[in-house]
Amino acid sequence: MEFLKNVYLLIMEPLWLLCFGGSQSDKSVNNFLMTGPKAFLTYANSVQVGARMGIHECKHQFAWEKWNCPEKTLQLSTHISLRSATKETSFLHAISAAGVMYTLTKNCSMGDFENCGCDDSRIGQPGGRGWIWGGCSDNVEFGEKISKHFVDALEGGHDSRAAVNLHNNEAGRLAVKATMRKACKCHGVSGSCSIQTCWMQLADFREVGNYLKMKHQRAMKLELDKKPAKAGNSAVNRGIIAHTLRRIAKTELIYLEDSPNYCVKNQSLGVQGTEGRECMKGEKNLPQKEKKSCRSLCNECGFRVVQKRVEVVSSCNCKFHWCCTVRCEKCMQVVTKYYCARKEGGKRQVNKTKRRDRAQRH
Ligand SMILES: *[C@@H]1O[C@H](CO)[C@@H](O)[C@H](O)[C@H]1NC(C)=O
Ligand SMILES: *[C@@H]1O[C@H](CO)[C@@H](O)[C@H](O)[C@H]1NC(C)=O
Ligand SMILES: *[C@@H]1O[C@H](CO)[C@@H](O)[C@H](O)[C@H]1NC(C)=O
Repeated sequence: MEFLKNVYLLIMEPLWLLCFGGSQSDKSVNNFLMTGPKAFLTYANSVQVGARMGIHECKHQFAWEKWNCPEKTLQLSTHISLRSATKETSFLHAISAAGVMYTLTKNCSMGDFENCGCDDSRIGQPGGRGWIWGGCSDNVEFGEKISKHFVDALEGGHDSRAAVNLHNNEAGRLAVKATMRKACKCHGVSGSCSIQTCWMQLADFREVGNYLKMKHQRAMKLELDKKPAKAGNSAVNRGIIAHTLRRIAKTELIYLEDSPNYCVKNQSLGVQGTEGRECMKGEKNLPQKEKKSCRSLCNECGFRVVQKRVEVVSSCNCKFHWCCTVRCEKCMQVVTKYYCARKEGGKRQVNKTKRRDRAQRH
């Protein structure tokens, strides 16, 4: 039992998607592990790598925002009562599903799996003016099929949240397809490029992240008619949800609940709050998001920006020595960093309250 639990954690913990599953999913995953096909072990590592890549990209995309894709939410969300379907969790679902599909597809093209290879279905066919299909097109159909099998299986429930999660998983996979691009190679005498062969390849995963971030910005809140949703009548529920979802493009992210206030620490929601967060200031040429980070993380949340002089050790005066090493010195550099901190007034108030509490008790 302990062994199973460890395998379960090892393989599935990075999968945010599992986290939403609650008891029902836990059961289905455990069953999967015990009786599951050999295929499970063949792909498990790639699934894990892919889900991690998705979460890593999430952290990058939200690095300078109030909600910054914290690990804590991932852990807390294993409790069924904390399942939520906000704009942010919709992004997490999509990017994780995309990561899994992306990795499986890449693995396939690299020849990591016996039963799959490049998509050669169009090789030799005319593509357009001056080019024909050739080379190794990334086999997204394979990646899509296998990732769907793994990731969507984690949504065991028939409630509206499961339906929304599945929709967002699909949107993530479609993002991998939507960002693919044509790559070509020239042929012809002495590089005349009179004819090219082209294939479709995956974009950098960063581009998938950028694409889904844009979808996050215009994610749609699903307004479900709650009246007919009688407890236990999941068939009726499913009908209503299916009907509502049919009107929404599969490429769009959707959510059910408004986001909590990410400024304020709320342990039970797994929200860390922005107090103490670092923000960027002062440097020219900062990207727009970083430039606004102090305002967004501190000021908008009622915190002030404090400056700290921080000593940073870095390598410097590196010299090449014959042969063949590079030796560097360690240099201490003092840099200014900025953080969100509670306002003076706020702090005194906390202190005063405490003192009064103590006075009353004595
Ligand atoms: C799939 O690719 C990932 C990332 O490149 C790699 O870590 C993993 O080992 C590969 N999986 C297999 C089965 O080769
Ligand atoms: C945390 O959030 C819950 C649910 O929104 C709310 O009821 C509770 O009061 C919040 N706690 C704090 C400390 O803000
Ligand atoms: C309370 O105030 C004192 C000084 O007035 C300060 O040293 C201490 O850190 C404060 N405590 C809290 C919890 O803010």
